[in-house]
Amino acid sequence: MATEKIGIQGKDFLTLLDFNEKQILGLLDLAEELKAKKKAGIPHRMCEGKNIALIFEKHSTRTFSSFNVAANDLGMSATFFDSHGSHIGKKESIADTARVLTRMFDGIEYRGYGQNVVNDLAKYSTVPVWNGLTDEFHPTQILADMLTIKEHFGHLKGIKFVFMGDNSFNMGNSLMIGCARLGLDFTACCPEKYLQNSEILKICKELAEKSGGTITHEPDPYKAVKDADVISTDVWVSMGEPDEIWKERISDLMAYQVTSDLMKATGKDSTVFMHCLPAYHNLDTINGREIYEKFGIDAIEVTDEVFESPQSIVWDEAENRMHTIKAMMAATLLDI
Ligand code: CP
Ligand code: NVA
Repeated sequence: MATEKIGIQGKDFLTLLDFNEKQILGLLDLAEELKAKKKAGIPHRMCEGKNIALIFEKHSTRTFSSFNVAANDLGMSATFFDSHGSHIGKKESIADTARVLTRMFDGIEYRGYGQNVVNDLAKYSTVPVWNGLTDEFHPTQILADMLTIKEHFGHLKGIKFVFMGDNSFNMGNSLMIGCARLGLDFTACCPEKYLQNSEILKICKELAEKSGGTITHEPDPYKAVKDADVISTDVWVSMGEPDEIWKERISDLMAYQVTSDLMKATGKDSTVFMHCLPAYHNLDTINGREIYEKFGIDAIEVTDEVFESPQSIVWDEAENRMHTIKAMMAATLLDI
C-alpha cells in the first residue's frame, strides 16, 4: 500500500471535478497495485463484510460486471436494482430510496439519466454514492482510460488526446475534465454544436492551466489529429437519446469517423485508438444492421479496420474498468 493516504473515505464519486490531481493519481496507483495483486492471485478482501447496492436504470455490460467482480474481490456482496424490479422513481422518490438504502448498504452505485438524480441520491445518503454513468458524466470510465494511457505510454502529462465526434455528452465532458485535471493536451474534434457547454469548457481551461494541460477545439479532423498520441471516440447517439436523431448525427459527424487514414494522419506509428465501448464498428449488432439498412454505412464512429488494428487498445481499457472501480470503491469506503 502506498505510504501517503488517498484521503477520500466517505466521499461520493459523482464527477472528477470533485477530486484533485493527487487524489486521482492516488486512485490510479491503487488500481495498479490491486491489478498486480489480482494477476498474482493475492487475495485483497479489504472491504470484507460490506454490502453495496447497484442501481442500473440504463443498460450496462462493463460497468455492471466491474462493480460486481470488484465487490466480490474486495469481499463485499452486491445487490442489483433496476427500474422494473424496484420502486425507484415510480412509487418511491430518489430521496426516500436513498434514505432506505443508506441504512442497509455501505455504498450505492447509480447509472441513469440526469446527473441531478445521482446528486440527489448522494444528498440523501450517508454512505458513498458512485456515479456509474449519467447523461452528463461517466467518471469511472475516465479512471480506466487514464490508467490505460499511463500503462501504455508510461506517463500522462503532455499526452496529446483527441476526442472525435459528439463531445457534448457524458464521455466528451468527462474526458475533458480528466485531461484537464491530469495535464494532458485535450482536443475536442467536432462541429461547434457538439462541443462541451461553455461552463464546463471554462472550468476545464482553468484546471488545465494549473495542471500544465491544454484544451483546444479543432473542427478539422486532419488538423486535429496531427501528432496525436491517443484518438478516442464514442457512439454518436447515447443511451436515452431518441432513435430519430441518428439521421442528423450521421450527417453531422460522418467526417469525424475514425478511419485508418485518420490514424495515419497523426504522423506517429505510436498513436493508439481508444473507445469506452460498446462500439458500432461492424454489422454484428442489431443497431449496426438497422443503421446499415437505413443509411448504407457498415461502421459508424470507427471503422472495423481501426477497431481491430494493433493500435486499438480497447480491451485493455475495458479490463481496467474493473481495476479502477475496485480502487475507487476501496478508497471511498476505507481510510486508505
Ligand atoms: N463503457 C461502459 O460504461 O460500458 P457499459 O455501458 O457496458 O457499462
Ligand atoms: N455515451 C455513451 C457511453 C456508453 C458507455 C452512452 O451514454 O450511451
